[in-house]
Amino acid sequence: MLTGRKVLLIIGGGIAAYKSLELIRRLQDRGATVVPVLTRAAAEFVTPLSVSALAGQKVFTDLFDLTDEAEMGHIELSRAADLVVVAPATADLMAKMAQGLANDLASTLLMATDKRVLIAPAMNVRMWEHPATQRNLATLNGDGILSVGPNEGGMACGEFGSGRMSEPLEIVTAVEAALRDGPLKGRHVLVTSGPTHEPIDPVRYIANRSSGAQGSAIARALLSLGAEVTFVTGPASAPRPAGAHVVEVETARQMADAVDQALPADAAVCAAAVADWHVVGASDKKMKKDGSGEMPPLNFAENPDILKTVSNAAARPKLVVGFAAETDDVIRHATEKRARKGCDWILANDVRPETGIMGGSENAITLISAEGAEEWPRMSKEQAAAKLAARIAEALG
Ligand code: CTP
Repeated sequence: MLTGRKVLLIIGGGIAAYKSLELIRRLQDRGATVVPVLTRAAAEFVTPLSVSALAGQKVFTDLFDLTDEAEMGHIELSRAADLVVVAPATADLMAKMAQGLANDLASTLLMATDKRVLIAPAMNVRMWEHPATQRNLATLNGDGILSVGPNEGGMACGEFGSGRMSEPLEIVTAVEAALRDGPLKGRHVLVTSGPTHEPIDPVRYIANRSSGAQGSAIARALLSLGAEVTFVTGPASAPRPAGAHVVEVETARQMADAVDQALPADAAVCAAAVADWHVVGASDKKMKKDGSGEMPPLNFAENPDILKTVSNAAARPKLVVGFAAETDDVIRHATEKRARKGCDWILANDVRPETGIMGGSENAITLISAEGAEEWPRMSKEQAAAKLAARIAEALG
């Protein structure tokens, strides 16, 4: 619930602005007060009157409205809320935020606020994938801006792909996560998740079958206890946890860099299925068959061990958790792994095919810590995530 909470909602100028009307309603259903701000472009898509009527509030639209400034200055407006939400966050607004521009009311509020900011990006797929937007997103992540979405799907412009704004209820979930009080409030937890892809040439890569489901569930469970979560994920199919700082990477080396940048953290959970090796000298052109009947040999080099690096970092989190997928002698192998990596806990999975755990919806975990091995009953990945999050909260005190 969001009873008594105040959300400053900045509506950007994109076709997804119509969904922001619904978002206002859904936030109000949860008890929040919504103070709306429209950019000049947004007012071309939804009318200030409809926004104001729905919100039951005055809508702020122009930086240089002297009456507004006399009643409530833009600095005060930016701070009177518990959270600032930008939905839709257009490519233009994201660029302004990344650059620190303050040339209209929305961008000025975003510069002046001392509250957390959550963006729900929405734009054409090409604009979303454009290196400039991805650069801006990385900058905003680094600045601690939270994000939700975008989703994949058909767009108003007729194209298909990533760039659709998250649905109002997904945004509400992210708002609740950002404002949640819980035992992990004020704690920063880093989660790695998903597979990594190691390129062979521009069109081929080496991957593994990790879906990222367990990592996403862990991040959601941590968010539900009030943690601030940085979620570094490889190209996984599982939905990204709403309300986390999501950092998308492709390779193990990119994941290692992203993790390094995300420190310090109070705890780290390395749930990613990181490739052990990458191809040395991956070709920048598509490799061709040479008629010999054999694939040209590939040379491999070991990837950085992220869990080991975090466990031995100068800015080591108080608690470092890793996973071990084992097929035999689970406890002995996992105990050795814990010592080798230098982490505090290892969650060991028995992944023999007959367990149905790999790629399945359940997990059977043995928690290996300094105190020994503790067997958890077989449970869903969500339940395992909730149990782990509760244990992390206990350990961080
Ligand atoms: N890990 C990592 N960076 C790597 C490799 C693994 O952070 N380059 C982390 C994983 O996220 C996981 C744990 O280390 O938490 C798994 O360790 P790993 O040595 O890969 O073990 P297994 O995958 O179980 O394989 P093996 O014992 O065969 O090496």
